[in-house]
Amino acid sequence: MTFREKNGYSTKLNGNSAASHQRSLKPKKPGWEYAESPESKDHIIINSKYDLFINGKAVKTGKYFSTVNPANEEKLSEIAYASAGDVDKAVNAAEKAYRNTWSRLSPKERAKYIFRIARIMQEKARELAVIESMDGGKPIKESKSVDIPLAIAHFFYYAGWADKLKFAFPGRQFSSIGVVGQIIPWNFPLLMAAWKIAPALACGNTVVIKSAETTPLTLYKLAEIIQEAGVPDGVVNIISGAGDTGAAIVNNPKVKKIAFTGSTEVGKLIMRSIAGTDKKVTLELGGKAANIIFEDAPIDQAVEGIVNGIYFNQGHVCCAGSRLLVQESIKNTVIKKLKYRLNSLRLGDPLDKNTDIGAINSRQQLDKITELVESGIEEGCTIYQPECKLPSKGYWFKPTFFTNVAQSNRIAGEEIFGPVLSVLTFRTPKEAIEKANNTQYGLSAGIWSDKGSKIFKMVNQVKAGVIWANTYNKFNPASPFGGYKESGFGREGGIQGLKEYLNF
Ligand code: NAI
Ligand code: MG
Repeated sequence: MTFREKNGYSTKLNGNSAASHQRSLKPKKPGWEYAESPESKDHIIINSKYDLFINGKAVKTGKYFSTVNPANEEKLSEIAYASAGDVDKAVNAAEKAYRNTWSRLSPKERAKYIFRIARIMQEKARELAVIESMDGGKPIKESKSVDIPLAIAHFFYYAGWADKLKFAFPGRQFSSIGVVGQIIPWNFPLLMAAWKIAPALACGNTVVIKSAETTPLTLYKLAEIIQEAGVPDGVVNIISGAGDTGAAIVNNPKVKKIAFTGSTEVGKLIMRSIAGTDKKVTLELGGKAANIIFEDAPIDQAVEGIVNGIYFNQGHVCCAGSRLLVQESIKNTVIKKLKYRLNSLRLGDPLDKNTDIGAINSRQQLDKITELVESGIEEGCTIYQPECKLPSKGYWFKPTFFTNVAQSNRIAGEEIFGPVLSVLTFRTPKEAIEKANNTQYGLSAGIWSDKGSKIFKMVNQVKAGVIWANTYNKFNPASPFGGYKESGFGREGGIQGLKEYLNF
């Protein structure tokens, strides 16, 4: 049996839904199974087709593409694919709205609109969470308790700043930029849109934002909310399409700033395209974060932090703790506890409230994860996966970790962007720092130790934009986020995030 077959997804089975296939990864013990607990879909509305949202109106295009539910491969809707001409339309609408409306409004009035968006999102939070899970495959407990509340919090936070910018930057002269072009990935669709739209509007700019290919739906729900909030036409334009649509935004001369989150590869392309122009840019790119566990750490909490760090959102997280650096003296204990914990994770229907591991976002991403995992096996690393049968339809990957990993192995250096952890060891803090920094990335890191002085010493030497101490994956709109090296530059969140949307 090949590795692919063992993992279950290459075997053709009948068409059962994911819901009926949710399984605990624990070996079966009769009487100890969770009952199914699916979130209701009755209250949500997904149109069969979405046009582009330009100048406050639905705009038809010449081409449409399907978005599917990765948990069962069923088509959810048809989405407009914006051509370069459509991008021009959206940018022109944003430019006109900037000139005639948005830049002339008092900051206090702008704040009212942003507060309104946040409040309507709050009213529709449950619908947004269900659609986010259906379109992208993430567990409902995550979209309900992380994605949607955080997205709303970003709108509230930046609404509060809109009329207080002079207090954010006392004594400095500044002005809004104009039209900003924003391009987002598929791992946190609505949250990434909020990270980008909220500060842009608070600073007086207008927006053209492009959804990712596989997860456009919550952005079109946001378009409805923006209309309901009475935001003037053209202030926010929402479009979709693939890389060529993104490139048309980047290359439009009326776009004065680009905010991009996605792969390092595309980040580099964008840098090349805008070289020689006066466009401002922020890039939030890939990562390969070290999660460093010292022998004096609270081990059980640290194991929870490892699980949260790499298996949250199936590992489709730029700041995922994908490299575990564990002190040699506690390696065996940590591995033993980690195995036990992996066997209690529940993989299956993303809409089931007990699901820990949802579906992989797309076939393409599943292929990428599989290829990298196979390289780990071929290079002699030791794989561990819990016993578990995967649903017959959809894209799935078991939570996985590798031991016997050398720094030169591909799985130790490349971003896998899936539920796959590489375990490495260290003996001294110096060695931990060297290994943590031995990457082209520099987005995030985790440090687990009982000793505050050790943590402070480490955070000063680990080169990462965000470092969590004795926790992982904690977010707050007041806290800036961003990277060093090939993880990009610029910050989103906090006062730092406002700065990126102003000219000084
Ligand atoms: P990607 O970087 O191609 O896509 C991200 C966004 O950029 C999408 O909206 C896409 O349409 C757009 N885009 C693509 N080419 C463009 C271009 N030439 N100009 C402007 N915009 C363009 O990432 P993809 O293909 O979805 O994923 C590939 C890998 O990238 C993943 O396996 C993962 O390792 C990494 N990735 C990292 C993310 C992060 O948050 N840091 C997010 C998504 C992917
Ligand atoms: Mg989809």
